[in-house]
Amino acid sequence: MIAIRDITVAFGGVTALNRLTADLADSVVGIIGPNGAGKTTFLNVMSGFVLPKTGSIDAFGTEILALRPHQRSRWGLRRSFQKEQVVDDLTVEENVGVVLDSLSLGTAERERQLSKALEFAGLASLRKVRAAGLNAFFRRMTEIARCVAGQPKLLLLDEPGAGLSQNEVEVLRRMISDIHGFNGAMTLLIDHDVDLIQAVCSSTMVLDFGSLVTSGPTRDVLSDPRVRAVYLGVEEVA
Ligand SMILES: Nc1ncnc2c1ncn2[C@@H]1O[C@H](COP(=O)(O)OP(=O)(O)OP(=O)(O)O)[C@@H](O)[C@H]1O
Ligand SMILES: [Mg+2]
Repeated sequence: MIAIRDITVAFGGVTALNRLTADLADSVVGIIGPNGAGKTTFLNVMSGFVLPKTGSIDAFGTEILALRPHQRSRWGLRRSFQKEQVVDDLTVEENVGVVLDSLSLGTAERERQLSKALEFAGLASLRKVRAAGLNAFFRRMTEIARCVAGQPKLLLLDEPGAGLSQNEVEVLRRMISDIHGFNGAMTLLIDHDVDLIQAVCSSTMVLDFGSLVTSGPTRDVLSDPRVRAVYLGVEEVA
């Protein structure tokens, strides 16, 4: 379980996260909210890019805010970025291998874990291809492979479905649903695609202006009038 307590982040006059407190417990948890709600800022706090003014985050018994970013990665934290960060000049396997290089694995074990991650993301036949030659879908898959490589505990995916076709989102959907069975990791998924959230997230947390609106079973959350009002732009009908 992830216990988020009292996380506050301010950028100048903007309070990007305002005393955020929530417990996240399912294998795939959604994070939704309008543009600027603080979703990416929350992932940045989790991964160590942003230091909160206050608060703590206990993930499976570890206070992750006490760890430096590279220690979080060794602990088992992985993330993908809203704007994907695949390196054009590296091959697919080199992009994924970067994650494993920080884990001090033997050559055989490194290769085993690399192949496993590439296969999971459907990239086995593309492993020697330079990333510059990949389309948007395979670039996303390369990020997914990087996230599942090396026995992660927690994956943070920031709008992995953005810019993908409906068929591609369907492949992504199955993949995200399979992560927990594949390696036991928990996934936090930010996406604006409510259908995707509904399909893969048993529970969902909703943010608006940096504050928690609600958190709970996805079905309940999506039918909550407060959520419909802030997120879906639907006015609450009295
Ligand atoms: N590095 C930064 N410096 C200043 N302000 C920032 C910075 N990062 C985020 N913000 C501000 O913090 C607020 C939350 O931004 P954040 O990127 O977390 O939103 P988001 O929910 O991910 O939105 P989106 O759905 O558009 O990706 C916004 O008002 C944003 O402008
Ligand atoms: Mg964002």
